[in-house]
Amino acid sequence: MLSTFTPLSLPAQTPAQPALQRWLDPKLPTAERVQLVLQQMTIDEKIQLVHGSGWGVLRDGAPVAPHHNGGAGFVPGIPRLHIPDINLADSAVGVRMAALESRYATLLPSVLGLAATWDPAAGHLYGDVIGRELRDQGYNMSIGGGVDLMREPRNGRNFEYAGEDPLLAGTEVGNLIAGVQSNQIIGDVKHYALNDQETNRNTVDVLLDHRSMRETDLLAFQIAIAIGHPLGTMCSYNRIQGDYACENDYTLNHVLKHDFGFKGFVLSDWEGTHSTVKAALAGLDMEEPGDTYFGAALKQAVQSGAVPAARLDDMAGRVLYALFASGAIDNPPARRVVNPFRGERDSQHIAEESIVLLKNTHGILPLSKTLTGSIAVIGSHADVGVLSGGGSAQVDSPGGNAINPSEGASPWGKPIYFPSAPLEFIRDKATQATVRFDSGDDSASAAALAAKSSTVILFLHQWQSEGEDSPTLSLPDHQDALVEAVAAANPHTIVVLENGGPVSMPWAPRVEAVLESWYPGIGGGQAIANILFGDVNPSGKLPATFAARDADLPYPHVPGLTEKTKNNGMNASTDVVAEQEQHPTVDYNNPQGLKVGYKWFQVEHKTPLFAFGHGLSYTTFAYSSLSVDAATASATFTIKNTGQRAGDEVAQLYATLPAATGEPYRRLVGWQRINLAPGQSKTITIAAHPTLLSVFDVPTDSWKRVPGSYLFEAGTASDDLPLRANAMLP
Ligand code: BGC
Repeated sequence: MLSTFTPLSLPAQTPAQPALQRWLDPKLPTAERVQLVLQQMTIDEKIQLVHGSGWGVLRDGAPVAPHHNGGAGFVPGIPRLHIPDINLADSAVGVRMAALESRYATLLPSVLGLAATWDPAAGHLYGDVIGRELRDQGYNMSIGGGVDLMREPRNGRNFEYAGEDPLLAGTEVGNLIAGVQSNQIIGDVKHYALNDQETNRNTVDVLLDHRSMRETDLLAFQIAIAIGHPLGTMCSYNRIQGDYACENDYTLNHVLKHDFGFKGFVLSDWEGTHSTVKAALAGLDMEEPGDTYFGAALKQAVQSGAVPAARLDDMAGRVLYALFASGAIDNPPARRVVNPFRGERDSQHIAEESIVLLKNTHGILPLSKTLTGSIAVIGSHADVGVLSGGGSAQVDSPGGNAINPSEGASPWGKPIYFPSAPLEFIRDKATQATVRFDSGDDSASAAALAAKSSTVILFLHQWQSEGEDSPTLSLPDHQDALVEAVAAANPHTIVVLENGGPVSMPWAPRVEAVLESWYPGIGGGQAIANILFGDVNPSGKLPATFAARDADLPYPHVPGLTEKTKNNGMNASTDVVAEQEQHPTVDYNNPQGLKVGYKWFQVEHKTPLFAFGHGLSYTTFAYSSLSVDAATASATFTIKNTGQRAGDEVAQLYATLPAATGEPYRRLVGWQRINLAPGQSKTITIAAHPTLLSVFDVPTDSWKRVPGSYLFEAGTASDDLPLRANAMLP
């Protein structure tokens, strides 16, 4: 809900402007500039920099500060010192709330879709779209960069995150952050950490031993931070081993700031701050969105010595560091009109790399453009648009929700469709066929159309949002029954999925093709049609395991999800968090621990529906001649395009560490996306990521390589690795 802009009074800035503002000299080292400003600041000015100005436009009736740009957060600057306001915008998959003041923002494919590209350049482009549109809209800080690991495939925010593997997720999100910050915007990474389910998110205590944390969830953050150098980190709502994530000395001070060398500032998730002294001492630098703990209470704590003055300097200094290091001071954003066409082109390009062909029996795909029969397009509003994910990641659809424009920009809690209608683009390609649409609302009517058509393209959806987890892997809205009815009427059925995360597909054996399009973004309709008709050869690979059934997951039921806790008590209109269980826990030690995603399936000898890394192409690739160089821990092998079409292949390298590590499963250690013409072959070398060849040794608090025999495997998916070689590593 957006409130009207009611001015909020800010503290008077009494001290005079210093004559020589040397910190404005961009040639000085950033750390020096920070110190120069800090020396001039009063305690009130320092306090002003370490908290937000309230709920603002996010809550109906809340006051809105002057110069507030309409984003999720606002920190007023200090004009006498030339320190600008910080305007923060939610921007997980595009800039949120653009419709406010008639702005426009590009909807990108979901971050999970980005991860399915396995393409670091796509990650950078993704961030670049967000960064440049933030600039154009007058923001100087992005709050996106979600990289929580997919421990819970039914987590309602998986579409904002990059899947189940720390190397893949960290690499894609790290590049995304670099893309954002290449626009002189402060980027961030979130939700730090272990915010892997929405159920009970404000109170849940996540239990996981330090080794498992470091090798899984925290490793994804570590890699993202090492690549993207975000200047902000948002700590999450949940507790970790007893302490809230925003007052957790281990994860904030010890791991993030000390071990990862994070130089920016830690901001809390909205109302994720729970104390003054404890939080400040544990490493939280900024309370959002208001000043309950980091306003007057913090000033008093500093004056009483409960929080050392040096710590307040560190907090304010980190905020200043982010402002200087990003370029937000030297090159502030200037508002101008966003170019929607450039955004759409970029979004479509990423979508085309992200779509995963899961199944293609009898080569039903690609469809021929000279197909003359009749095509039935069924379901999921494919006649008007494509689905997007909800919550604070929701981007406003141009012109309003494509299925109900009259309801306003994007009400919380409702599926929003974007006007990129697959039906239209399918019609454009299949000019010689009769293309008919059925809503899919009634299985009998859909099956009747399927029966009289030569080919069926059936769109299925799973809407997900912040604040609620899916109760099961099953598709909602009786869609399993719809597929069964349609496939029984016509076996030449192609399923196209628009979904937040993994879903089960009990009907998979009865359809000929399955195309995973995630939430495909504003160019989604075109991208899907380009792949269906072979103008683009699919190349996406799954960034997460698709289990056949909930019973195969480490937690067959989402921990703590009940009728009472579902939707997290979030009231659709007011976004109020209702009473939750007081101290629920999620025990990730048992049984999941280190075995996230595909590792669980391997150790438990469970066959997934579709494995991590899986994804078909319209051509075929052959792998040969693996050799491993122990000195550089790198693998060299050859890939040949053995089919008739040019295509991209994502060649994957996995390693299984020596038995002495106690981790008897393969882990992704590297990959390369390559393009091959028909008949062409390339020999590539992939160096294994050194951290992935190590384990985290808790007694010495460091990463250790365990000497011994390492098994390297290379191939096209985690369950299709034709090349194997052992190497003794020191
Ligand atoms: C979400 C954050 C978001 C913030 C501000 C919270 O509910 O968890 O991801 O950035 O709201 O909108």
